[in-house]
Amino acid sequence: MSGAVHGHTVSHVSLIIIDRLVPAQAMCLADELLGDLPQRWSHTAGVAGRAADLAAAVDPADRDLLLCAAWLHDIGYAAAARDTGFHPLDGARLLRRRGWPARLCALVAHHSGASFLAAAQGIGSLAEFDDERSAVTDALACADQTTGVRGEPVFLEDRLAEVLRRHGACSPHAAAHEGRAPYLRSAANRVQSRLLATATS
Ligand SMILES: [Fe+2]
Repeated sequence: MSGAVHGHTVSHVSLIIIDRLVPAQAMCLADELLGDLPQRWSHTAGVAGRAADLAAAVDPADRDLLLCAAWLHDIGYAAAARDTGFHPLDGARLLRRRGWPARLCALVAHHSGASFLAAAQGIGSLAEFDDERSAVTDALACADQTTGVRGEPVFLEDRLAEVLRRHGACSPHAAAHEGRAPYLRSAANRVQSRLLATATS
């Protein structure tokens, strides 16, 4: 398995050998698979930057995991990943096939309250991945939901409203909103509390 960024070839085999997550390798895979989706790439790069800003809200041992998940959370939109059409699940399955760690795959499968959307769309297979509902889950959701479609910073409420506008009042996104929006607000509040606790300790 290999990918290329700016002409440099990167081997993904080392992921298995060194048993450690490397955000630069996650970035390379995102670049390889989302390179023909420039807006999705811009959003992904924005989420990764935001995740770096929020990294103090997770245990130091989990910070590379958070950054990798940020780079790879939307990989399910890539043509190479497309299967069910539900991008969190397609992305997680692609990463699992490529040997990425189970915890990372699960974070991608459940990112940003995906279980609410899965229920609204009748997707029943997310249970094959654990939903750890941790500080990493919260920080990933917060990074994703405060980054706009072109990678720009946005307020959570504006992002939630934009998604509803984009998908329509009769969409699965609208059906999921009642449960998903409070979940995302709670995640963002928990991240803010953890950052404040870190800043004052
Ligand atoms: Fe995203």
